[in-house]
Amino acid sequence: MPPNDARTMIEQWVREKGTGRDQLLPMLHAVQDAAGYVDDALIPVIAASLNLSRADVHGVVTFYHDYRRRPAGRHVVKLCRAESCQARGGARIEAAAVRRLGVAMGETRGDGQVALEPVYCLGLCAIGPNALVDGRPVARLDEAKLDRIAAELSA
Ligand code: FES
Repeated sequence: MPPNDARTMIEQWVREKGTGRDQLLPMLHAVQDAAGYVDDALIPVIAASLNLSRADVHGVVTFYHDYRRRPAGRHVVKLCRAESCQARGGARIEAAAVRRLGVAMGETRGDGQVALEPVYCLGLCAIGPNALVDGRPVARLDEAKLDRIAAELSA
């Protein structure tokens, strides 16, 4: 979505729903749904629209891991970083995923093909460590499964 379209969407949102602080999270979700991410250039626009400071909006965008600040990769791998998955080797799997997928956590690979993102509990705690690959849950993630995922996403 071009930045001007996002600005138009924000203006329309405010006309329809008002400028209350409670509009911030739903507005950010709407922007991300439409554009795929929340561009940093929109932070002052959103702040002005809702009578908030840029720091308020920036703080929310950076605090919640669900908001993307750059376009997502063609494929999105989300690794669970919550307690049960961490206790089941999550940190080791994350390091292996970074190596095999060739992208740092929270980043999109240079070729735009794969984004690696954290997620906090998928409700599958007993069969972790867990991931979502393009929205598909993968339980008991291990290095062999990571190899298959890496191959699948490169095809
Ligand atoms: S802690 Fe990972 S699925 Fe619940």
